[in-house]
Amino acid sequence: MSLVQWVEFPPLGDDRGSLVALESGKTVPFIIKRVYYIFATKPGVSRGFHAHQHLNQVAVCVTGSCRMVLDNGTDRTSVWLDAPTKGVVINKMMWREMHDFSPDCVLLVLADKHYDETDYIRDYKSFLEAINNES
Ligand code: TYD
Repeated sequence: MSLVQWVEFPPLGDDRGSLVALESGKTVPFIIKRVYYIFATKPGVSRGFHAHQHLNQVAVCVTGSCRMVLDNGTDRTSVWLDAPTKGVVINKMMWREMHDFSPDCVLLVLADKHYDETDYIRDYKSFLEAINNES
């Protein structure tokens, strides 16, 4: 599985402007159980720094931009979320960090499970150990 999986959300605009529809099992590759958004991020703040044991997510900047680091324990890369028509899949056991939020950034995240703090791995060393135990 490649480290970066993009999902394209076709713009359904007309001469009045733009519209994007996010549909479970269609444009979004799972059944959506939770939606949250990160906004008004203070200058210089980075977020994330965790992985999830079971949770799968799709993230899209509906306004503004941020840079997302994705790390599967072997490879690490960085992608820009900078369009409301472009989401990135963050599957389970993927370390993520979000950096360089633009002041207007609204980062929308779709998740396939309800919030569960026990699903988080917040320590990078523990993440690598969990990955190595899997293989
Ligand atoms: P967290 O996932 O740590 O944010 P980030 O990865 O962006 O740094 O969440 C921040 C806080 O919000 C944390 O105390 C948990 C809480 N939270 C919920 O209560 N429900 C949720 O759906 C999410 C995503 C977070």
